[in-house]
Amino acid sequence: MKVGFIGAGKVALAMGNYWLSKGVAILGYSSRNMDSAQKHAVLTNTRAFTSPAALAEEATLIMITTSDDAILSVAETLAGFSLPWEQKIVCHMSGAHSSQLLSSLSDKGATICSFHPMISFGTVPMSGFNLDKAFFTFEGTGQRLKDIESFLHFLGHRYELIDPDQKVLYHTAACVLSNYFVTLLNTGMQMLKRSGISQENMMDCLKPLIEKTWENVLKTGPESAMTGPISRGDARTIQLHLESLLKEGRSDWLEIYKTMGKATVELAVQAGRIDPETADNLYKELQ
Ligand SMILES: NC(=O)c1ccc[n+]([C@@H]2O[C@H](COP(=O)([O-])OP(=O)(O)OC[C@H]3O[C@@H](n4cnc5c(N)ncnc54)[C@H](OP(=O)(O)O)[C@@H]3O)[C@@H](O)[C@H]2O)c1
Repeated sequence: MKVGFIGAGKVALAMGNYWLSKGVAILGYSSRNMDSAQKHAVLTNTRAFTSPAALAEEATLIMITTSDDAILSVAETLAGFSLPWEQKIVCHMSGAHSSQLLSSLSDKGATICSFHPMISFGTVPMSGFNLDKAFFTFEGTGQRLKDIESFLHFLGHRYELIDPDQKVLYHTAACVLSNYFVTLLNTGMQMLKRSGISQENMMDCLKPLIEKTWENVLKTGPESAMTGPISRGDARTIQLHLESLLKEGRSDWLEIYKTMGKATVELAVQAGRIDPETADNLYKELQ
């Protein structure tokens, strides 16, 4: 497959580098701004294309890696060009949208696909850092969809076909697991700071706690990994936590604590750690 990227951003650069390292033929980049396409082409030693049509003419796997909001219009623009679409696979990489965004191209005979790595690209600039460990989901329609599965197989990834109607929920989960996890960590760090832990010791203070928790979840799952006052049914400790947050005057922290606390009560019941009466009392404290 000859791969071309439309939309020269973070994901396109990381995927391009990663696939090159695996021996995949990358033709190059086209983007809204020629400068971006050129920059990516230089960084990957590939080519910059002056238009999406020029790239689509040569590529057999066309990756639309623009922002989500631009995917539909890029697909519709491409569909306006007379190309042998039945020979081409067009994918976008949005986690939230299904391949239906590309239906103008399947109408022309192309195989269409949404192709999503469950990984955060952040600001890591060049490398395909950790991409070989990424889990992928994909779905689509067309006679060449099997080629996408073979491609993922060739790259050695774990992957799963996803129901297009469940993509939004799938992406909501990704958002909770990654983005909101970062926010939760940040909230805990702010509380530690208020409690007097110095900035200098912050990471040393929280790293073993987080690493051990994460290790336990990976080993045994959330039910067995849970510890803390709710799993012990220590209602008085929960009252003290709530009082301390009230004293700080941080209603945002209080909201987060109560919401997470109620979800933790549910988990503790599910795990058989606390009886329904204890759960009821804890739940009332957290209202
Ligand atoms: N970031 C992540 O962690 C992550 C993870 C999984 C999937 N994804 C998905 O991957 C896709 C790309 O995300 P990203 O983080 O790489 O975004 P990004 O860094 O913002 O890059 C998107 C690029 O698309 C270009 N672009 C925008 N509109 C365009 C148009 N109409 N025609 C051509 N190029 C256009 C822009 O390039 P110019 O400089 O030329 O304006 C921009 O640099 C999205 O669908 C996203 O949902 C992202």
